[in-house]
Amino acid sequence: MERKWWKEAVVYQIYPRSFKDSNGDGVGDLRGIIEKLDYLKELGVDVIWLSPVYKSPNDDNGYDISDYRDIMDEFGTMGDFDELLEGMHKRGLKLVMDLVVNHSSDEHQWFVESKKSKDNPYRDYYIWRKGKDGNPPNNWGSFFSGSVWQYDEATDEYFLHLFSKKQPDLNWENEKVRNEVYNMMKYWFDKGIDGFRMDVINLISKVPGLPDGEKGEQDLYGNGFPLFANGPRVHEFLQEMNREVLSKYDIMTVGEAPGVDPDTAKLYVNEDRDELNMLFQFELMDIDSGNGKWDLRPWKLTTFKNIMFKWYEALKDKGWNSLFLNNHDQPRMVSRFGNDKEYRLQSAKMLATFLHTWQGTPYVYQGEEIGMTNVQFDISEYKDIEIINMFKEKTAQGVEKEELMKSIYAKGRDNVRTPMQWNATENAGFTEGEPWLKVNPNYTDINVEQALEDRNSIFYYYQKLIKLRKENPIIVYGDINLLYKDDENIFSYIRRFEDERLLVILNFFEKEVQFKLPADVQFKEAELLIANYEVDTNNIDNFLLKPYEARVYLLH
Ligand code: NOJ
Repeated sequence: MERKWWKEAVVYQIYPRSFKDSNGDGVGDLRGIIEKLDYLKELGVDVIWLSPVYKSPNDDNGYDISDYRDIMDEFGTMGDFDELLEGMHKRGLKLVMDLVVNHSSDEHQWFVESKKSKDNPYRDYYIWRKGKDGNPPNNWGSFFSGSVWQYDEATDEYFLHLFSKKQPDLNWENEKVRNEVYNMMKYWFDKGIDGFRMDVINLISKVPGLPDGEKGEQDLYGNGFPLFANGPRVHEFLQEMNREVLSKYDIMTVGEAPGVDPDTAKLYVNEDRDELNMLFQFELMDIDSGNGKWDLRPWKLTTFKNIMFKWYEALKDKGWNSLFLNNHDQPRMVSRFGNDKEYRLQSAKMLATFLHTWQGTPYVYQGEEIGMTNVQFDISEYKDIEIINMFKEKTAQGVEKEELMKSIYAKGRDNVRTPMQWNATENAGFTEGEPWLKVNPNYTDINVEQALEDRNSIFYYYQKLIKLRKENPIIVYGDINLLYKDDENIFSYIRRFEDERLLVILNFFEKEVQFKLPADVQFKEAELLIANYEVDTNNIDNFLLKPYEARVYLLH
């Protein structure tokens, strides 16, 4: 297996809108991030991924970009950006930007032109089609509710938008579009950035003809997903991008790829194919969904283990996994997979132990390192377009409000977008103004200042895990053997690298359970590397695991 800096790194994701406001307008900004670089350095992470900071009318909080080469007014200026990048590099931190090129904003100059007339030179930068007998060109439904087609009177045609109607899809079939994107990427690489996280990059190639998707009787829209995900030319496009841009720089790439299975993933990240370094897979994030994300289902640890092991096996020789348990779209990990009440501390540390000792590059989402939790707001207090549109659409269909609120509490994206909790002062020290989204009321107990004062905090546990990764190549490169793969409570595995072995034991639930080391695991001495409880015995052959207990040993 090839050694690479991005395999050894820990990435920290910043959602700039909610990280730190420096000028009192209630919105986080670049100077706010600059203020906190020493904090991130203290945590020990190596790479910072910034959710989009480009010019945007913020229909989808920056994932709708109106100028790819400029900074959003609310976030600051290009001067601030340059200072941020310099401040990061001075501290040995790398910067990964978000690349959102499946779509732009409808306020991007390209779209403004494209809309003007059918013969405008920018017309084919987007996907325009005629309607069918007064209906949209096909039956696909958008991720943010409604049809993917928006009618435009001026030219009597519809344009395609997989997300909101202010996010028209770019036409990747058009070579000019691809070259614009590649040049823009070079512009940022030449500034010195260290990589890109690529937004829904597996959706850029659509099946020609854009045929209808399958539609059940109950469904409002057809399922276009199989017709626009992992489309016919996606690998050709990514190989071209790699040839034209990526291969020229020492950078990292991670592609967001909903609906990709491990075999398909190999096509994107196999080292010999020259496409991407890593993907964000969603099989694990879908573990508690039925028919779509809002349809809540209980999850089982055996399924969790199977998914993780399958992905490990598929990519271990020629690819690489990314590891994440939450991000700006997914609920707080401690609320979803742990216990955000009585065992918040223990379960957050246990989940972190998994994240940092499995094979792959760990991604930590802001606030995770202090155990921030989900929120339950009044419907009027949510800001996320996905929540708002879904609530409107389902209410109109007659779904009970109570049921919808349950889904929003469990899965809504604003769970993770509440302002970062820096201290116990008003608005959690995030802003001196009115925060754009309400602060989680638990900020008086859960905040950075408190975490830094407590040696037993989740923060210091993350710091230690990150340090262990640097000191023990086995944590990065070791292969994995699952123990007790059918056990519904315990997640345990042995990593091997050269002549070393690392044993990880995790109790995933509150119930106390007995752990018995399989008799064929022989060793002279077990050296404890990290644990989330005081460990007072070196008996690891047979012992009772406490609620959410986690232990990691080197076996000698
Ligand atoms: C995925 C991003 O992570 C999400 O936040 C965004 O809404 C959609 N892509 C559209 O860009």
